Amino acid sequence: MSKPAVLTLDDKEYVFPTIKGVENEKAVDFRTLRSATGYISYDEGYGNTGSCQSEITYIDGEVGILRYRGIPIEQLADKSSFLESSYMLLYGDLPTQFELDQFTTRVRKGAAVSPMMCDALKGFPRDAPPMGMLGSMLGAMSCYNASMATNDRAVDLEHFDEAAAAAIAQTATAAALGYRVTKGLEGNQPDPSLSFGDNFLHLMFSEEGRPYKAIPEVSRALDLMLLLHADHEQNCSTSTVRMVASGGANLFASVAAGCGALWGPAHGGANMAVIKMLEEIRATGDDGSKFIEEAKSGKSGKRLMGFGHRVYKNFDPRAKIIGKACEELLNKLGIDDPCLDIARHLEQAALADDYFISRNLYPNVDFYSGIVLRALGIPSDMFTVMFAIGRMPGWVANWREIAMNPKMKINRPRQIYQGPALRDYVAMEDRG
Ligand code: ACO
Repeated sequence: MSKPAVLTLDDKEYVFPTIKGVENEKAVDFRTLRSATGYISYDEGYGNTGSCQSEITYIDGEVGILRYRGIPIEQLADKSSFLESSYMLLYGDLPTQFELDQFTTRVRKGAAVSPMMCDALKGFPRDAPPMGMLGSMLGAMSCYNASMATNDRAVDLEHFDEAAAAAIAQTATAAALGYRVTKGLEGNQPDPSLSFGDNFLHLMFSEEGRPYKAIPEVSRALDLMLLLHADHEQNCSTSTVRMVASGGANLFASVAAGCGALWGPAHGGANMAVIKMLEEIRATGDDGSKFIEEAKSGKSGKRLMGFGHRVYKNFDPRAKIIGKACEELLNKLGIDDPCLDIARHLEQAALADDYFISRNLYPNVDFYSGIVLRALGIPSDMFTVMFAIGRMPGWVANWREIAMNPKMKINRPRQIYQGPALRDYVAMEDRG
């Protein structure tokens, strides 16, 4: 038992229990703060707030540790696959061969989306943003997979295995369909003989009489990219999924909300912003030095995209893995991407610059993921969609954790009201 915390407020002492996590993370349990003291805690941005106790993912941002269900991301990147790691995130342990085969089959079977969803996609404008389309399709999945999305917790949990596989698989299918529709191309049917990543590339790029030909290095790089994005603790989108799930919403409605949260440039949109930044730097003939100065000055509103993280105050371990994979992929494919040279120079310059050192700003996963995705032929406006495909198992695992907790309360933060004090309604004719 850890020692309780003592808080003095208005000359009165209050005692609150403390909690220790498995890895010794310490928290004061303030659940009775308001009822005991009349105060609430104020923590805009939630930088000091533990919103839950979770068994899924562990991060120590001070030293750059990321583990899924206890296993270091470096080991998973080296030895596991996206689907195997997804299974572990969802169910807690690495699968046996039999369990993995069953799960893979469920994902393959769940990949086809309703023809009505294809029609719905055709109704979007040709220049619709891919994340807008994907978010809509995730919401629509609750209509097209209605038996698994009842908002009756017991029923939804009964169908969880199927629903989880459908969410993971249909996200990839809907993303690829959206891409083809906006290009005026017919959609492709999922190919259950292919791996998860190869099937996605087939859905995107196969043409009549010209099926997508899998390249082992490309398949491995895509699988790795998805695995590295599969979960990341209580980030903005995952917290959104949990928030929505806490109200009892079904899996598809909850992940659709997560998709909206991911869209922003401070979160999943950063991978697109990195490539845009690298292209802009390239267009001006700068090697990155001028841009760094602008980002430091803060005046231009520019930031070094792909740098900094709310939690990592050290190297993002995913950035190390993906940076190396990026070099290997480009070498193997014989791609000479000038953006990679600019990225390398930016990284070296920033890591040696006092501005970035003193603020603990290191490359995050997005710094290199865009270059990898570009090498795979993914258009840059789909980069955040790729993040969503990768993150789906994490969102689903977090939904399940909420759904399986019988003591779960609806998430409902409070606020400090700072608007006008009590005043009377003024009739229209009396308003100045
Ligand atoms: N470039 C330049 N300066 C930066 C950057 C950056 N990328 N990131 C933070 N800073 C500076 C801020 O200006 C601030 O400086 P100040 O103390 O002089 O005012 C200081 O570092 C702290 O910045 P905050 O915004 O308070 O840090 P926070 O932890 O809230 O933000 C965030 C984290 C949003 C990721 C931020 O670092 C950022 O905008 N990075 C670029 C966007 C990005 O890559 N996002 C991807 C995040 S990872 C993901 O979602 C997968």
